[in-house]
Amino acid sequence: MQELDKIIIEAKRTFQAATTLPELDQIKGQFLGKQGVLTGLRKGLSQVPAEERPILGAKFNALKTELEALLECRKNEIKAEALKERLDNEKIDVSLPGRKQALGGLHPVTRTLDRVTDLFSTMGFSVASGPEIEDDYYNFTSLNQPEDHPARSMHDTFYLDDGKRLLRTHTSPIQIRYMEHNNPPIRIVAPGRVYRVDSDATHSPMFHQIEGLWIDDRATFADLKGTVREFLRRFFEKEDLEVRFRPSYFPFTEPSAEIDMTFKDGWLEIGGCGMVHPKVLKNVNIDTERYQGFAFGMGLDRLAMLRYGVTDLRLFFENDLRFLSQFVV
Ligand code: PHE
Repeated sequence: MQELDKIIIEAKRTFQAATTLPELDQIKGQFLGKQGVLTGLRKGLSQVPAEERPILGAKFNALKTELEALLECRKNEIKAEALKERLDNEKIDVSLPGRKQALGGLHPVTRTLDRVTDLFSTMGFSVASGPEIEDDYYNFTSLNQPEDHPARSMHDTFYLDDGKRLLRTHTSPIQIRYMEHNNPPIRIVAPGRVYRVDSDATHSPMFHQIEGLWIDDRATFADLKGTVREFLRRFFEKEDLEVRFRPSYFPFTEPSAEIDMTFKDGWLEIGGCGMVHPKVLKNVNIDTERYQGFAFGMGLDRLAMLRYGVTDLRLFFENDLRFLSQFVV
């Protein structure tokens, strides 16, 4: 009898000391398992005199039930403690700001391109395009620069290995391709990548131009000036922006001019333009007695640099996120 009471006290103490379920399981084995204390006791019962056996037997069963209840109780305590600890540690602060998903943005040159084509489309121009790999005919000959024409050296051209094909040095070949397949009246802008052997803070071997072409039966140099000036004023949102047309030379226009705009205290060159040369129109079978018109070409990267205040052109092409992410709205 005394032994049974001792077991209860001992069991309570060890149950209480267990802090995890596996630990408790092990202790359960010590008391209730096959090799456990209780099994030993039950074997001892058979040696007890027959008249004492019922009382001891009942006591034994009561002890067993009590131990099981104690175990169950401790088990629930351990579970509750573990849950409480988890709840304390995994507290979620619902007032914290969420983790934002990083948003990509359009490249500044793409933004500029979109803006430029939008503006021109409100002025009645549609958008055309052409291949970046061109041949001699479209890049030069059709634009009134036959072989050995001195103007060819104005462009430092990248040739492909076959010596025939080349990376277009300007967007003007798109004029030819468009006029080959469309009859006047024509009013298009043609943006795109162009390539020249050149690299410094204001020149990149790959850059962007936008070409404009307007052919109908009465387009004049005055229309050219008005179109370019109106575009630049809208693009830079500056009503008093001055535009200057400085006489120049291009083989495919006559007369030709350089387009300058006011910038800081002086003038800045932004592109070239002129009345499309009759020889160019003849090359695409347009009747020069009936039709005439003008063309212009502007540097898109230059427009982007001015609009965003970027001073080194190369930043546009290095793909440094610290630079590019400044253009994400
Ligand atoms: N293609 C010329 C250049 O790249 C620009 C230009 C376009 C000039 C159209 C006149 C007319 O320099």
